[in-house]
Amino acid sequence: MTVAMAQRVYEEGDPDMPEEFAELLRRMLTHHLENSTNPHYTELLSHLWARGMALAPEERLKTTYAKLMQQEVEHGVITSRILAGLGVGPIVQPIKQYLFHLPIDTFCDMAYFNALGDRVGCYIGETWEDVPYRPLLNVAERLHKDEVFHATFGLSNLRRVCSTPEGLAEANEKITIWWPAALDMFGRSDSQFSESYVTWGLRKLDNEALRRQYIAETRPLLEDLGITVPDDLANRRFL
Ligand SMILES: [Fe+2]
Repeated sequence: MTVAMAQRVYEEGDPDMPEEFAELLRRMLTHHLENSTNPHYTELLSHLWARGMALAPEERLKTTYAKLMQQEVEHGVITSRILAGLGVGPIVQPIKQYLFHLPIDTFCDMAYFNALGDRVGCYIGETWEDVPYRPLLNVAERLHKDEVFHATFGLSNLRRVCSTPEGLAEANEKITIWWPAALDMFGRSDSQFSESYVTWGLRKLDNEALRRQYIAETRPLLEDLGITVPDDLANRRFL
């Protein structure tokens, strides 16, 4: 089954919405990191705010970072609102993706978090422009544009880090931690839900195809900065 099953766009509360589609939608959005009702997400945002404000090497960067963080809060509110429309209430769910638990000790770590972590959001999660569900369609373009801004901000900070020999040395050390963590955010290649999401048009590609696309487009960006990117299978937890 390759052609998306859902041939039309469903509205919120649509009586014609197939239950299998609604179940997959609930599952995808419940597993989605950004949710303002989830105290673990709020805790993560507080941690990222504190790290960003403490590590910014220049005051003006704090303004840009504040805008980024405001958008992450808004993304959480949007997800919780769409879930409410699907009959799902507040969520209390620890954050599974280990990239979000990696230590952010230096500005280089902060740069990698946005440059690689938020960049994953541009491939998986904030890619809803063709999803046959109106509430998601209405926000898809905005969410994707925001994540591109977050990833671009990260890359420009990484460029700054790599502009000194010490910074480049640190970036080449830390990439061995952040690269596998970013690739593992795409999930297992054999995930049974990954295919169902594609079948129902909730995703364009499965986990492995999205991960390959990310690698093909992100690896050259890092190599252009002088970073030696490790093998894609090195230090991975999920293949
Ligand atoms: Fe983001």
